[in-house]
Amino acid sequence: MGFLRHCARRRPSACNRGEASSASRFFPGTAEGSRSVDISAEGLDFGLMAVTIAKLRQWKQQGRAIVTLTAWDYALAQLLDASGVDVILVGDSLGMVALGYETTLPVTLEEMLHHVKAVRRGVKQALVVCDLPFLSYQESPSQALHSAGRVLKETGAGAVKLEGGYPAIAETVARLVNAGIPVMGHVGLTPQSVRLLGYRQQGKTPAEAERILQEAIALADAGAFAVILEHVPSELAATITEQLAIPTIGIGAGPHCDGQVLVTADMLGLSDRMPPFAKSYANLRQTITQAVADFSAQVRDREFP
Ligand code: KIV
Repeated sequence: MGFLRHCARRRPSACNRGEASSASRFFPGTAEGSRSVDISAEGLDFGLMAVTIAKLRQWKQQGRAIVTLTAWDYALAQLLDASGVDVILVGDSLGMVALGYETTLPVTLEEMLHHVKAVRRGVKQALVVCDLPFLSYQESPSQALHSAGRVLKETGAGAVKLEGGYPAIAETVARLVNAGIPVMGHVGLTPQSVRLLGYRQQGKTPAEAERILQEAIALADAGAFAVILEHVPSELAATITEQLAIPTIGIGAGPHCDGQVLVTADMLGLSDRMPPFAKSYANLRQTITQAVADFSAQVRDREFP
């Protein structure tokens, strides 16, 4: 009922896809009602995650907000998963928060594979999504298929994410989805294009806003199961969320998205620099610095052990 109500306000092609998404055709075992988590002792890496792409779409229809956070290692992934986070994104922001790069541009596919394997070992419930890093998919749909295929085959991640809109990226998304690879899109501020766009808010002029809307529609039409909207005006995010049958996950995109994501280092107060739209719910830099100072003092005073 809720879905039909949404459909009445959406483009017909998007609504048609809503009834039999590409992803659910390729992944019948992930359909609603199938909650079984096949995590045998030796098969953890390739067990099914309990949160499925079908569930995310259902949550959009029900208006249940989707909680997404990033992770880059086993310990953090375990904590996020046990706390009930819905989607764990191994974002290429790990290049900045875990590897010390200035931007996400130097991150390699090998580095992403290394980190997503560790994250996947810590996750039983959440959907694990792995970013495809800069130049691991832009060259051609075949290059993207090779990179995304490695992610699914070697790490046990449930999906990949890539940045950009149409026509080239939408064509690539269709190619991946046709091969059975679930894809999350990402439009608005796309950090892999920092040399072209900087980190400024996108979609401020009517022309830019229209382009981003069309990119999101093209990604959905190509079979993406969700799309990240980064650093765009709240009204634009609301329009896109209204027009698409697939969930939108916002970061610096206002309150009207179907879910929200933050880089966990920002959310925990671990980052040495933060984007203007991020919010910290803890101050781990201070907590860790204090703990290290206390330990150092006790060692130097021969109070510990
Ligand atoms: O790399 C990342 O962490 C991301 C989020 C900012 C969405 O793409």
